[in-house]
Amino acid sequence: MAVSTHDRSALIPLLQEVQVEMGYVPKEAISEISKELRVSTSDIFGVLTFYSQFRLNPTGKHMVKICSGTACHVRGAPLIIDAVEDELGLEDGNETTEDGEFTVEKVACFGACSLAPVVIVDETTKGNITPDQARRMVRKIIKAEAKKKKAEAANE
Ligand code: FES
Repeated sequence: MAVSTHDRSALIPLLQEVQVEMGYVPKEAISEISKELRVSTSDIFGVLTFYSQFRLNPTGKHMVKICSGTACHVRGAPLIIDAVEDELGLEDGNETTEDGEFTVEKVACFGACSLAPVVIVDETTKGNITPDQARRMVRKIIKAEAKKKKAEAANE
């Protein structure tokens, strides 16, 4: 059964709600929504993959958003993406590190093209960034996390 306009209008807000609450849309939520709205899971997957706002996997603790819009692309975004993925050991198109610490997301345009290339790491925005600076931003977080874990272990 295809998703009718009526079903779709109820479906998208529900999926958005789940995503806001959990950071992604888990399989269990898809089955529940499927039963509740009487829409097949494959139709729901169709909607989830059509809208790029939805995530099917949990995100890491830290978000690294790299703009890959035109201005950033021509000013070196691909080199920044390579540097960050290399620093985090991300391969084969994976967006999230195995330890669940980082997710790297390529974003269309932050609307700050005059600062291209632009990267946002958690709450910090950095324009005119170089691949080395991007690596350092990520390393700083890794170091801080390691320090935090060490302190927690010492307190136990
Ligand atoms: S293209 Fe990167 S901020 Fe616009």
